[in-house]
Amino acid sequence: MKKQAELRMENLSFKYEGAEGFAVKNVDLTIEKGSFTTVLGHNGSGKSTLAKLINGLFLPTQGKVFVDGMDTQDEQHTWDVRARAGVVFQNPDNQIVATVVKDDVAFGLENIGVPHEQMEARIEEALGAVDMLDFIDRAPHMLSGGQKQRVAIAGIMAMKPAALILDEVTSMLDPKGRKEVFDTVRRLNKQRGITVVWITHFMEEAALSDRVLVMHRGEIRMDGTPREVFANGDALRSLRLDVPPMALLAQELVRRGIDIREDILSLDEMEREVVAKWRLNCKM
Ligand SMILES: Nc1ncnc2c1ncn2[C@@H]1O[C@H](COP(=O)(O)OP(=O)(O)OP(=O)(O)O)[C@@H](O)[C@H]1O
Ligand SMILES: [Mg+2]
Repeated sequence: MKKQAELRMENLSFKYEGAEGFAVKNVDLTIEKGSFTTVLGHNGSGKSTLAKLINGLFLPTQGKVFVDGMDTQDEQHTWDVRARAGVVFQNPDNQIVATVVKDDVAFGLENIGVPHEQMEARIEEALGAVDMLDFIDRAPHMLSGGQKQRVAIAGIMAMKPAALILDEVTSMLDPKGRKEVFDTVRRLNKQRGITVVWITHFMEEAALSDRVLVMHRGEIRMDGTPREVFANGDALRSLRLDVPPMALLAQELVRRGIDIREDILSLDEMEREVVAKWRLNCKM
């Protein structure tokens, strides 16, 4: 059975205690079940605050958040909401609490009161889902950054979530670890229908998602497919973000009057486009 979650924010605002302005402001947003949504935004734009609002770690100052119809402010749903929409953070070392991988994954299960006889199966299933079952008896501190993040994700997967919110989980990793973690999350999305909210600074990760949101000063300023959002280089730059390198190259070539698709996102697409145009020109 596929477990999926719809995440809904209605006129959502949040202000930190003592702060002057809102860290999240007037967000109206529905994140569809089973979708992969990337959230971009420069430093301090409100991404992490939004992540913590989605799973009820923070409660709205104004407005509402619903996880599968459950209001995060409704105390009877607090644990349900956290189990259904789990957040993974940037630094794997801050999230690993035990000295053996399996105990680390067990930790969250103990918190939500899963009976002991069910634990082993849930731990194995969760580690299998992130391809870390071989490491079940290892010491987490001996693992690579990418492996540690996958253990952190397994800790959430063991709770059988319907949504994962990943807050810059690849930003402290090397390229290999980044790819390993990104591919794992994509697989959980595609094969298990887990709803994903992927917060990142990496444009090439955003390019591979269903939908891209851009935050600025707590608000959602852009919302569309990667192609739609990255085609608007000027708007992105005004929000202090860059377009992916190949999108930039395509836009620059078009600006110079070269006949090439303007909505290219990846090296692969650029290569195909150049080869296609080259062949066409050779025939003429
Ligand atoms: N604990 C806090 N107390 C007061 N203000 C905070 C706190 N945490 C964040 N803020 C402020 O709230 C705003 C949004 O911060 P947030 O951490 O959500 O941004 P972000 O987009 O995640 O940034 P980054 O890219 O650096 O992770 C910023 O202005 C920040 O300074
Ligand atoms: Mg952040």
